[in-house]
Amino acid sequence: MPCSSVVGLQWGDEAKGKIVDLLTVEHDFIVRYNGGANAGHTVVRDGKTFKLSLLPTGVLSPDKTSVIGNGVVVYPPKFTEEVSNLKAAGVSVGENLVLSNHAHVIFPYHMEEERLHEGAANGRAIGTTGRGIGPCYQDKVGRLYSIRVEELLHPQHLQDRLVTIVERKNRLLKALSSEARQFDAQALCEEYLGYAETLRPYVRDTNALLLDAIKAGKRILFEAAQGSLLDVDHGSYPFVTSSNSSTAGIWSGCGVPTRQLNRVIGVIKAYTTRVGAGPFPTELLDGPEGIGEKIRRTGREYGTVTGRPRRCGWFDAVAVRYSAAFNGADELALMLLDVLSELDEIKICTAYELDGERITRFPGDAFQLARCRPIYESLPGWKQDISGIRWLSELPGAARRYVDRLAELLELPVSIVSVGPDRSQTIFARLTR
Ligand code: GDP
Ligand code: IMO
Ligand code: MG
Repeated sequence: MPCSSVVGLQWGDEAKGKIVDLLTVEHDFIVRYNGGANAGHTVVRDGKTFKLSLLPTGVLSPDKTSVIGNGVVVYPPKFTEEVSNLKAAGVSVGENLVLSNHAHVIFPYHMEEERLHEGAANGRAIGTTGRGIGPCYQDKVGRLYSIRVEELLHPQHLQDRLVTIVERKNRLLKALSSEARQFDAQALCEEYLGYAETLRPYVRDTNALLLDAIKAGKRILFEAAQGSLLDVDHGSYPFVTSSNSSTAGIWSGCGVPTRQLNRVIGVIKAYTTRVGAGPFPTELLDGPEGIGEKIRRTGREYGTVTGRPRRCGWFDAVAVRYSAAFNGADELALMLLDVLSELDEIKICTAYELDGERITRFPGDAFQLARCRPIYESLPGWKQDISGIRWLSELPGAARRYVDRLAELLELPVSIVSVGPDRSQTIFARLTR
């Protein structure tokens, strides 16, 4: 039974949402296994735009089962809000959405903790999304103070736990800042018991559900949140998120054994973006009239979750070769190619210079990466609108050369080329290297 994974190979926002939506038709289950409402996945169907943050993109297809796995961190008000927004937009959400009983729950003290840490970071802030993701994962790994979805469903148990946890959290927060917000265990308990009733119909042992699905020959699509260069183990640490956003997160984040995965689609933008802090060797810092700003405007590069302008730069083949390798990518979906259509010249970073030496290996440490200078090769632009093109053979020669060169540098076939946000603006290229 074919299980596939859609994974971002850069710093997030590679347009994973569009690819998951396109591939949903070939699968029965769509599974989010990491992150939480820090993600923002966009789908444009027939001119209608949907933005999914905590829910899997699969919810837009009610005939499929969408799963929020145990590796996801869940903020219940966001869950409720997204479900209501979808219903208001005419998308039916019910038994097609399931939430793991073992997913961990985000509380407002997580957000306060994050705000205080980021505010006190003295120029070392990560530039997080402020959704409480990091502190919730910290509590999960720390074990003593985390609450899982299942625990919300048992009122007395929840109350007992919150009394202990909130007392401890209040002391920690006060130690971080005398201005820290303080929380009331009873009020939080009542609030979360309310959410629990909304969540209850969705809660399942999703690991068992997925294992049964595999036995029954069902097809599963894993939807990564964030990009692999934000992976807590393999990304540009410490400027990363707090989960395994690469394929490495699948096994722990939804309980499906590794050997079930037989197709890994690495999603890449035709250039690079990054939101938040951290090194970015190919970033274009060429001012308001420069190419960086042009890409930002044409690609509408503003964060889906926070609205922050995304930092923009040239495609970095050193970084993507690295991420494609540790994800085990089989093929590439090349997105937003149309955004480069107005440029005279397009650059690709093929190596870095570090301490006077040419290197092609991606340094996984932020302090080393920050010292790397990009070495570029340059290709001519195509200077022509390609957003209406549906066949690879119809792409202008220079655009085709750019696609082929990326495939060559990354040593992977490009199987999808996207030339606009709408589902229809897609070229299915059975390309080989
Ligand atoms: P994700 O987080 O990886 O799902 O990506 P985001 O949704 O945060 O960002 C991708 C953005 O690019 C969204 O606004 C999409 O609608 C848009 N998009 C997707 N594919 C294309 C494309 O081929 N061309 C253009 N111009 N926009 C695209
Ligand atoms: P999608 O799924 C881009 C970034 C934040 C910050 C860092 C840590 O839409 O690709 P966090 O709130 O996770 O602790 O922030 O990670 N970040 C993303 N950047 N796309 C995302 O998700 C991101 N999710 C987190 O900007 O730099
Ligand atoms: Mg996004």
